[in-house]
Formats: sequence, C-alpha cells, structure tokens
Amino acid sequence: MKILFKLVFFGFVFFSFVNADESEEIFEVECEFFEYKNISYHCEIRNLEISARNSKLIFQNSSKKSVALEKVVSIGIVDSNVPFLPNFSDFVQKFPNLEEFSIQLSNLKYLERSKFLILKNLKILVLSDNEIKKLPDNIFDDLEDLEFLSLDSNKITELNENLLKNLKNLKGFFACCNEIEVLHSNLFENNQKLQDVILFGNKIKKIQIDFEKLKEIKQIWLNYNVCIDEYFCDYENDCKKKFSVEKFQEIVRKNC
Ligand SMILES: *[C@@H]1O[C@H](CO)[C@@H](O)[C@H](O)[C@H]1NC(C)=O
Ligand SMILES: *[C@@H]1O[C@H](CO)[C@@H](O)[C@H](O)[C@H]1NC(C)=O
Ligand SMILES: *[C@@H]1O[C@H](CO)[C@@H](O)[C@H](O)[C@H]1NC(C)=O
Repeated sequence: MKILFKLVFFGFVFFSFVNADESEEIFEVECEFFEYKNISYHCEIRNLEISARNSKLIFQNSSKKSVALEKVVSIGIVDSNVPFLPNFSDFVQKFPNLEEFSIQLSNLKYLERSKFLILKNLKILVLSDNEIKKLPDNIFDDLEDLEFLSLDSNKITELNENLLKNLKNLKGFFACCNEIEVLHSNLFENNQKLQDVILFGNKIKKIQIDFEKLKEIKQIWLNYNVCIDEYFCDYENDCKKKFSVEKFQEIVRKNC
C-alpha cells in the first residue's frame, strides 16, 4: 500500500491508500461525535471525497471526547462526494449498536445490495438529497428491520413493485421530490405497519394502490403530482383531518 494523498478539511483528516491488487481505495475517516437522544452518540462524517467504485472506510479515532463505541447508534455522511456506496464493514464492526445510517447531500448515485448486507440491523436509512436515478431490484431486501426509509430529493423515476417486499417493519416511506410516475398495486403489499407515506412533488400519473388496505396508515402525502394534488392526514394534533382514508382512496381512484 502507498499513501496517495492527504486532505485536511476543517480539522478532519482523511488518508487514502490504494490496495493495488483489488484496486480498492481505503479511507481512514474520522467522526465528529454528537450526543444523540440523550444517552447515545451520532458520528458525523463531512467532506469525504471518494471517486473509486470500490472504496473502504476505516474508522480513525482522533476525537478528544470519550465516547464508548457501543453508544454510537447513528452514522451520517453529509456534504461529501460519494457517488458509490463505500464498504462500511469496519464501522459496523466497531459500532455494534448501529441503528441509523444516512448519506445526505453527497452526490450518491449508484447503490449496491452487497454494501447494505452488513447494515442488516438498521432501523433508519436516509439517502436524501442525492443523485440516485435508479434503484436496483432487491436493493433493500436484506434490511428486514428497517422502520424508516427516506429517498427524498433524488432523481428516481421508478419504484419497482418488489422494492419494499422484505421490509415488514416499515413505518415510514419518504420519497418526496423525485420523478416517480407510477405507484404499482403491490408496492406496499408487505408493509402492513406503514403509517407515513410521503410522495409529494413527484410526477405521479397512475396509482394502483389501495390505501385502505394499510391498517395503520396515518398520513399519505400526494400533493404536487400529475394526477393528484391532495393529502390524507390523521395525526391527532399535527394535522387537520380532511378526509377519511376511504374518501381519500375514492379521490385516488377517480383521478389516477
Ligand atoms: C437526559 O437524561 C437525564 C438522566 O436520565 C434526564 O434527567 C434529562 O431530563 C434528560 N434530558 C433530556 C433532554 O431528555
Ligand atoms: C478516542 O480517543 C480518546 C482518547 O484520545 C478516548 O478518550 C475516546 O474514548 C476514544 N473514542 C473512541 C470512540 O474510541
Ligand atoms: C467489505 O470489506 C470486508 C472486510 O474487508 C469484506 O469482508 C467484505 O466482503 C466487503 N464487502 C463488500 C460488499 O465488498
């Protein structure tokens, strides 16, 4: 291995190595730790620059804070340039109680199922404000514990009908501000715990879903789409109930 370059951003230091055999780039990455939910920690990674398809992140502790690794439940990469998912296995091994993972505002474009395999205990996955156009089939199939998925503000045009089929614990699906055109009839078939479906600001012109089948549903936001500009919301304090879900479904059926 040889040291390729060293970058210093705002006190964060990244070392990059190239492992010539596998043309894999290795990045030693630091976290800034923030207290999170009072008893745990969030690890924030900023200004990471990765262009290699195969890269690996190695956790490097230079924090002055004394943080027990078991208390780190969340990792977030933000304001970075990470078009390909890196290999996170070192982080996941070092932070055994990881429940949340996010890559935001980081030009993420290409997703691979194999990179998520190691994150199979995740409850929350946020990939918002990136450049994702295509979601590979089965991309989320290993994340069976996932409760909250955000794909907000990307360039997604299609939601494969099997995209969420293994996410039986999913409570929130957020994909506002994309270019989605069709909601297939069985998209939410295996997501009986869904409470929040947020799909405003897309290009939806066809909806085959029967939302009445979702017994726990609390809100469905479909404003600013092609065939519909309406929402359903049934949270007691947060929003005024405008329709029953039956009435909302009638509007969907009539227009889309
Ligand atoms: C944090 O936890 C402490 C001890 O359990 C508690 O007294 C305090 O009210 C909590 N603070 C917040 C903001 O939840
Ligand atoms: C990082 O190192 C410091 C000492 O330099 C130590 O107090 C802290 O617990 C370490 N943090 C982690 C997450 O290993
Ligand atoms: C990630 O790195 C680990 C450790 O080197 C390796 O075992 C694993 O196969 C890699 N995962 C992927 C998806 O490349």
